[in-house]
Amino acid sequence: MKPIQVGLLGIGTVGSGTFNVLQRNQGEIRRRAGRGIEITMVADLDTERAKSVVGDAVRVVGDAREVIANPDIDVVVELIGGYGIAKSLVLEAIAAGKHVVTANKALLAVHGTEIFQAAADKGVMVAYEAAVAGGIPIIKALREGLTANSIQWLAGIINGTTNFILSEMRDKGLDFDVVLKEAQRLGYAEADPTFDIEGVDAAHKVTLMSAIAFGIPVQFDKAYVEGITGLAAADIRYAEQLGYRIKLLGITKRTDKGVELRVHPSLVPAKRLIANVEGAMNAVVVHGDAVGTTLYYGKGAGSEPTASAVVADLVDIARLADADAAHRVPPLAFQSHTLEGAMS
Ligand code: HSE
Repeated sequence: MKPIQVGLLGIGTVGSGTFNVLQRNQGEIRRRAGRGIEITMVADLDTERAKSVVGDAVRVVGDAREVIANPDIDVVVELIGGYGIAKSLVLEAIAAGKHVVTANKALLAVHGTEIFQAAADKGVMVAYEAAVAGGIPIIKALREGLTANSIQWLAGIINGTTNFILSEMRDKGLDFDVVLKEAQRLGYAEADPTFDIEGVDAAHKVTLMSAIAFGIPVQFDKAYVEGITGLAAADIRYAEQLGYRIKLLGITKRTDKGVELRVHPSLVPAKRLIANVEGAMNAVVVHGDAVGTTLYYGKGAGSEPTASAVVADLVDIARLADADAAHRVPPLAFQSHTLEGAMS
């Protein structure tokens, strides 16, 4: 079968990781996908940087729309981020009949309904494993692995930057600002770190998980969002003395009144596994009626951990691109609308 041709929009941390993983593991990936997966075009404003990553074998352009206009490209990977130009490009790629892979949780949490509908109308796939918890395959777990279950609740540490800050403040007694700068230097933080520290990034991610777990529309606007900026070093110390850790949790829960959707600092008993998730690591606990409580743990950010999720989506698309729509897994798996939306 002919290789699937991929165009990358943005080749920063995650884009270069994606290129490197596909190169390094190409034999295994070809066997698993049943065909080759080739990055044949890259768009980045910094064309010199892009060329230094991909070399001469890949066409590098400065304008993302050149990738979308190329009839040979089967899949567009959007790694630009944010709601602005990324939204236009994703919708244009779908309109041009391209499948889309994105790591853009902000875009999907706010505009997911419109984007998934556009993709369904056009008969293309939108895949977003990398948008939630980086390298942890939590989208696949919720949508496919736990499909037998009625999910009751899930709770997760899904922002590495804030978990890193809380861990470093507790362990080393460092100030908030000092640790935030370190998180930025290490590449964990968003371009605008207020999204991390105010809980918005975690809310984007729990919104997506909630939509999958409960078959409801993505509805970020219904989430209660509180970050860690109101916490003092003393809060963290007192919690420790009482046998608790403070963690920024994203929580979504089925209740009689509807679905709860919230992000806030939480006191977690120190003996719980999730209390011991340190640094920039992520973890998600999911409770299903059949399986009971399950835990997913791993790197929630970074070049190759996030690329691991992007490439997994590319493999799915490579395997299903020629299948008819009924044989593909829809982006949210199902939309039951049997529960009220999130309670505000
Ligand atoms: N800023 C995010 C985090 C990156 O700290 O978890 C991964 O989504």
